[in-house]
Amino acid sequence: MISFVSAFVASVLVGASIVNATPSKEIWPNDPLIWYHGRWDQGYGSWWPGTGFKLHVENLDSLCLYLSPNTTSPSVNIGVSVNYGEYATVSVKAGQNVIPLSGISASTDSSHHSRPTSSVIRINVQAPQDNIYLEKLVLNPGARLLPYTPSKLSFQFIGDSLSSVRLSPAKPNRRAWPVKTSDYFKAEYSTTVQPGACLTDIVCWGVVHGLTYQFFKTEAPSYIDSVNHNYTTDWDFSRDYPPTHIFFQAGTNDNSFHVPEANATVAYDEFFSKLRRLYPSQPIFALGTWGWPQDDGSFVYFYEGVMEDVIAKKRADGDTNIFFVKTRGWVALDDVYSDRTHLNPQGSAKLAANLEEWLKNWGLEPQAKWPTSTC
Ligand SMILES: *[C@@H]1O[C@H](CO)[C@@H](O)[C@H](O)[C@H]1NC(C)=O
Ligand SMILES: *[C@@H]1O[C@H](CO)[C@@H](O)[C@H](O)[C@H]1NC(C)=O
Ligand SMILES: *[C@@H]1O[C@H](CO)[C@@H](O)[C@H](O)[C@H]1NC(C)=O
Repeated sequence: MISFVSAFVASVLVGASIVNATPSKEIWPNDPLIWYHGRWDQGYGSWWPGTGFKLHVENLDSLCLYLSPNTTSPSVNIGVSVNYGEYATVSVKAGQNVIPLSGISASTDSSHHSRPTSSVIRINVQAPQDNIYLEKLVLNPGARLLPYTPSKLSFQFIGDSLSSVRLSPAKPNRRAWPVKTSDYFKAEYSTTVQPGACLTDIVCWGVVHGLTYQFFKTEAPSYIDSVNHNYTTDWDFSRDYPPTHIFFQAGTNDNSFHVPEANATVAYDEFFSKLRRLYPSQPIFALGTWGWPQDDGSFVYFYEGVMEDVIAKKRADGDTNIFFVKTRGWVALDDVYSDRTHLNPQGSAKLAANLEEWLKNWGLEPQAKWPTSTC
């Protein structure tokens, strides 16, 4: 009799503890429902700014990100966006990180009891020198990963610091024009962008390789400063969600490092040919320089006509799917930092707005909605 009672009590307690503490959902990095973008190495380490992943989750209340010790120390800034909203900057480090999910309505909320809610979480590394190494994700009990359906549009950006908001201390990359433009068109994006990089393969501003070399590698040039991963590997382009449109902006640093015009011409020509082999049918948009705004309202330009001429020749030779995007007049003195060079957030927004108009005139329409619906 006594043993029967205690067995009964024990089972009730076990039952209660199951109700109150359903085990959290552990998601391992090889889970096919994690939608990775950008460049990840074989150890689930991220390279290049903007690299990250998307999750489509049912009944999401909480998200913990566990990062392995090879993650850049002491911490890495990531952008976190909930349901395609603005990115918030969150500092993460090796070990457990609780990711704040502002805007998520708790699935335990009575108003949502009758139907499950689903959320899209976007997480991106912000700075080019930072790597996160993904160990696992932990979701609240009751949460469930669903497939993420990517947009039909997918933008690939290649560039230097003029494609990032490099000097903005609080929000290094999230407000950069490539991200804004992609969000405007509801496009997936990949930003293979390296501040300081030349196009030609020489050391510029301490960046060990030019984009003509590094674009074809998994690792960003910061590999040279990594004790864990001090080497490059060829990027397997078949791992990309195929881009539909290619954006290019580079050459500024070559000018600063006195690369002759003749060399820049060859570099543009060869690089565009390589891009065309990789992306046979995609439009390539090459942004010309908008110049350095001066205090007197004038602009300083460089490599005048160089990229334009290379593109004109390619078009004359039959590749009519590459376009020179003239950006002169798009930004002015109050759109750059006091270095008279780098776009401030207002300048990045202006550049994005101008590019969006240009693309619409060219014939590209924003998607009406993201295909992964959230409610
Ligand atoms: C990486 O290797 C290069 C030589 O290839 C060396 O100069 C550099 O100091 C190394 N970096 C680190 C962080 O060990
Ligand atoms: C971390 O780096 C070491 C090399 O220092 C390597 O052996 C190990 O596999 C790396 N861990 C991950 C998760 O990539
Ligand atoms: C420019 O190209 C020439 C000829 O290929 C080469 O010898 C020279 O080193 C290059 N200069 C720079 C700065 O890249």
